[in-house]
Amino acid sequence: MSGAPQPAPVPFVDLRRLQAPHRPALEAALSRVLDHGIYILGPEVGAFERQLTAYLGAADAAGVSCGTDALLATFMALGLPAGGEILMTPMSFVASASSVLRCGLRPVFVDLPADSYHPSASAFEAAWGPKTVGVLAVHLFGEPFPMDAVAELCARRGGVLVEDCAQAIGAHAADGRAVGLAGRAGTLSFFPAKNLGGVGDGGGVYSLDADFVAHVRRIRQHGRAARDVYDELGGNFRLDALQAAFLAVLLPALDGWVAARRANAETYLHALQPLVAAGRLSLPRDRVGHAWNQFCVRTPQRDALRQALTHAQVGHAVYYTRALHQHRALASARPPECLPNAERCCAETLALPVYPALTVAERDRVIEVVSGALS
Ligand SMILES: Cc1ncc(COP(=O)(O)O)c(C=O)c1O
Repeated sequence: MSGAPQPAPVPFVDLRRLQAPHRPALEAALSRVLDHGIYILGPEVGAFERQLTAYLGAADAAGVSCGTDALLATFMALGLPAGGEILMTPMSFVASASSVLRCGLRPVFVDLPADSYHPSASAFEAAWGPKTVGVLAVHLFGEPFPMDAVAELCARRGGVLVEDCAQAIGAHAADGRAVGLAGRAGTLSFFPAKNLGGVGDGGGVYSLDADFVAHVRRIRQHGRAARDVYDELGGNFRLDALQAAFLAVLLPALDGWVAARRANAETYLHALQPLVAAGRLSLPRDRVGHAWNQFCVRTPQRDALRQALTHAQVGHAVYYTRALHQHRALASARPPECLPNAERCCAETLALPVYPALTVAERDRVIEVVSGALS
């Protein structure tokens, strides 16, 4: 028995590494909350909301229980007519569409171009019908959705525009503003593996319209207008005080984390270029303001690539194995005729490790294994 030692496994994501430098501050936040004993809303949530509002350049931001409830509370607050249709991508997490359906609205899936993770504004325009009431734009994988044309479309046709920024805190539009400010509201997820991940679930809703956020705050507390006064339906969509205290510790690290994600992505974009030239791989588009929550390559040889990565113990994931219209749970969405590009995308896409605490040696190992598998 001999040979070089096996290289160490490369995790797809390791949150402990990210949080290790912040552990003393997280423990101090935990002690503070246990000391004051205000576990629901209160000063921790208020302080985090002010910090988040300033970071995003919004008029206001409300903490909520998760990214799913951020969408749900937003659509509940919008109060759109039942059966109204929301145009959206078929390429996203199930919650983007299920929240629309749970509010009595119908998602209408608009196919992607062959080479993009975002539907085009012209495809949204072509899909706009008599029942359309708005667009949900998803900043998938942290790639800013180009909003100008979609915002213009919604303004011209009198529809609402909501941005699902669950994967995109830290991303910004071409004008330098945070994503999520082009329409009525942006929604966030603080699921641990997101760009700003909590120590559990969390989410947020933000807007340039402070009245809208005030409405979301009522909806997140069962539609509470005042003590024991409930004028509309809401839910329990509150962000935990403890989670807010943790997120307040971690938010100042976000821009550094996004910069590290970007450095990883830029290295991959450069190092994997020969595979693109050889026609074996497609790389994600590098847009200004991309926050790189995921680095998703595409290849028709995905199974072979997955096998090689698994064999080499290099973490990877598929987002998503099915497009939204292929989920039975979403069958009451308006059935699309055919969404071939989204389906092909789901058959070819593969996410490589891009999280901020990836080491240079680990990144090089990813490049070596991918290059070896597809050469
Ligand atoms: C695009 C998108 N929207 C919504 C959500 C829902 O967020 P949460 O898991 O915090 O409910 C997610 C989470 O993965 C997401 O990726």
